[in-house]
Amino acid sequence: MSGVLDLMEPPSGTINIHGYTVNILDDIGRGSFGTVYAALDSNGNNRAAKKFSFRDHPKIASSEAVQFIKFHDLPQEHRNIVKIYDVKKHKASIWIFMEMCSLGDLNQYFRNNFPEIDLKLDLITQILGGVAYLHHYRIVHRDIKPGNILVQSNGTDEPPVIKITDFGLAKFLDPNEETSGMSTDVGTLAFKAPEFWQKARNGTIRYHKSVDCYAVGLTILAMLQAKQGQQLTPMALHSLDTSAEGGKWIGMIMNDRNTHRQPELNLVQINHTDSIIIKRIKQIVQGMTFFNPKFRLTAKQSLQLLRQQESHEGDTPMDVSAPPTPSAMVKNRAL
Ligand SMILES: Nc1ncnc2c1ncn2[C@@H]1O[C@H](COP(=O)(O)OP(=O)(O)O)[C@@H](O)[C@H]1O
Ligand SMILES: [Mg+2]
Repeated sequence: MSGVLDLMEPPSGTINIHGYTVNILDDIGRGSFGTVYAALDSNGNNRAAKKFSFRDHPKIASSEAVQFIKFHDLPQEHRNIVKIYDVKKHKASIWIFMEMCSLGDLNQYFRNNFPEIDLKLDLITQILGGVAYLHHYRIVHRDIKPGNILVQSNGTDEPPVIKITDFGLAKFLDPNEETSGMSTDVGTLAFKAPEFWQKARNGTIRYHKSVDCYAVGLTILAMLQAKQGQQLTPMALHSLDTSAEGGKWIGMIMNDRNTHRQPELNLVQINHTDSIIIKRIKQIVQGMTFFNPKFRLTAKQSLQLLRQQESHEGDTPMDVSAPPTPSAMVKNRAL
């Protein structure tokens, strides 16, 4: 008798949602809007199930689900964007079923591992690849940060695979918006670009997809600075006036400095002793985090810079000691 019941009822601590068995005893992650649980599909494949409650977040629940559905309409998938299998409504919630990333998000990954520079470079290249893909399709993520970058194991001998996730704040730009920009104040304080902080100065915010590039730059900075067992939080170690600026978010400091006509904050310092890889990564951090969004490197340009570095590996070291200057950036953008 109990055998029959087993077939009919999901195991205790789980619920059945349209054929998926969701373990609701423990969540595997929790952000500001959704709770994520481990699940199995009807074939026994591991899935992550993200639950949005209409009761808690009526607008967000529908908007993130809509984003995901729109994503299915893109002409091709990308290896570095999390794969969505299903979106289901169940009682007062929407459930998104996606691939389960066994190594967690980038914070969890760096807490449990201490990747060497070659592996960091691989992960950085993948993050840039995912963001370049989103921007190509005019999708601005608007909440790039380590907690929204997942890591999937790829077997023991291969580097893990990056999967960008959490499109709750993402926006598909129409051509007009691409020119005129966006004005809704969204994102995570530690990764917010300086233009978000301009509101304090003139009451308005205007930003473009380069806010994602800024957030990628800070994420890479945090990966460079990573200390074993710690959360990935970008820190402005260099040229900081700690008495006045300590404890403030980097974007906020940059905006304050600009308001008071002080020199731009230098997030990285390139040393003679740095390897070519580290110099190149630092150049990218510098290029992606310029105060002026127009001068920022795009994800695609940053990828090109990294490829240049690969093709020069083994050559006599070239001069990468100086970070790219804004005028060099402007030239690059025209390429
Ligand atoms: N597919 C997944 N595989 C593994 N862990 C995940 C997955 N999706 C989310 N998580 C975990 O759950 C956390 C919250 O998920 P996220 O989609 O960012 O929700 P929120 O919108 O609430 O921030 C992530 O930071 C990550 O730790
Ligand atoms: Mg999140």
